[in-house]
Amino acid sequence: MSFATTDSQARIGVIERYRQYMPVTDKTPVISLLEGSTPLIKAERLAAAIDPKLTIYLKYDGMNPTGSFKDRGMTMAISKAVEEGSQAVMCASTGNTSAAAAAYSARAGIKCIVLIPKGNIALGKLSQAMIHGARVIQIEGNFDDALNMVVEMTNKYPITLVNSLNPYRIEGQKSGAFEICDALGQAPDFHAIPVGNAGNITAYWKGYKEYQAHGKIDRLPKMIGFQASGSAPIVLGHPVENPETIATAIRIGNPASWKQAEAARDESGGLIDMVTDDEILEAYNMLAGLEGVFCEPASAASVAGVRKKAAQGYFTEPAVITCVLTGHGLKDPDRAIKMAKTPDTLPADMGALLKLLGY
Ligand code: F0G
Repeated sequence: MSFATTDSQARIGVIERYRQYMPVTDKTPVISLLEGSTPLIKAERLAAAIDPKLTIYLKYDGMNPTGSFKDRGMTMAISKAVEEGSQAVMCASTGNTSAAAAAYSARAGIKCIVLIPKGNIALGKLSQAMIHGARVIQIEGNFDDALNMVVEMTNKYPITLVNSLNPYRIEGQKSGAFEICDALGQAPDFHAIPVGNAGNITAYWKGYKEYQAHGKIDRLPKMIGFQASGSAPIVLGHPVENPETIATAIRIGNPASWKQAEAARDESGGLIDMVTDDEILEAYNMLAGLEGVFCEPASAASVAGVRKKAAQGYFTEPAVITCVLTGHGLKDPDRAIKMAKTPDTLPADMGALLKLLGY
């Protein structure tokens, strides 16, 4: 596939950028939207507000083509599905996976079926799955119910599952860790990440370990993952039957990669903790107001978690922390509008404007 660019600094997609680390051959058709190579933003005002001894970087993965980190894994999963001759893919989703699956399937010219929990998916994500022509089915149940149905269906019929149970998704998503290390010249001390179905924490940990094995970094970060307190099965140690949180992306009660998430936590000497919806929304507001970075609520769980741990005295020394901001704020515009001050309305009159602004 050729792209209309000659700029060597431009994004080339995660499969091309990290081809030697990816399970591809010359025969693999690379289905890409030039994902990855997202900004790593130093957040000085945020760090000053949280704990001045911390150096905080935001891995703004909302800047991917469909607005979330899922594109990193989906380029790999769809490329391999096409290589293997698959004509159809299927996923359950809280929204972002379905948006990415729909977009990459459209680009590959294959069928995409998505199951979403009715009433609990942000508007931007729903619009994406619909416009890319996926078969969108709303389930009167939650994400966990939908995933069980997808697993059963893809076991029985010739349809490729593209949830993160598909190992190619993890392979693609590990590129996030590579990019962070390439940008910093080393691994961070701590890697903070929201945890939902637990694929991404699994993927980042795999990426860091592979980079160490290849001699690209000489130490590993502590993985610190955060669930929403109403959907925190790993923290509680048991599945949550009716998960609840305003961070609908991580409204998951029985994560598919539970064991792998625990392994990442334990092998790295990190932790998995939970943050309340209020803490998530405070972090969401701080990111927008202090740094000009607009992410969706679930993404802010990483920053909310760092803030909670800092307040508890967890960080005893100066440290470099990367927080993954997994999805763009425009995915869930309703939340921003609900949170922020309502705009004033005025007649088209200069006097009224000056009076309102106090000039
Ligand atoms: N952040 C966002 C914005 C997400 O969409 C998700 C997961 C996560 C964090 C958690 O990542 O599942 O790998 O632990 N969204 C999935 C979806 C479940 O269907 O889009 P995870």
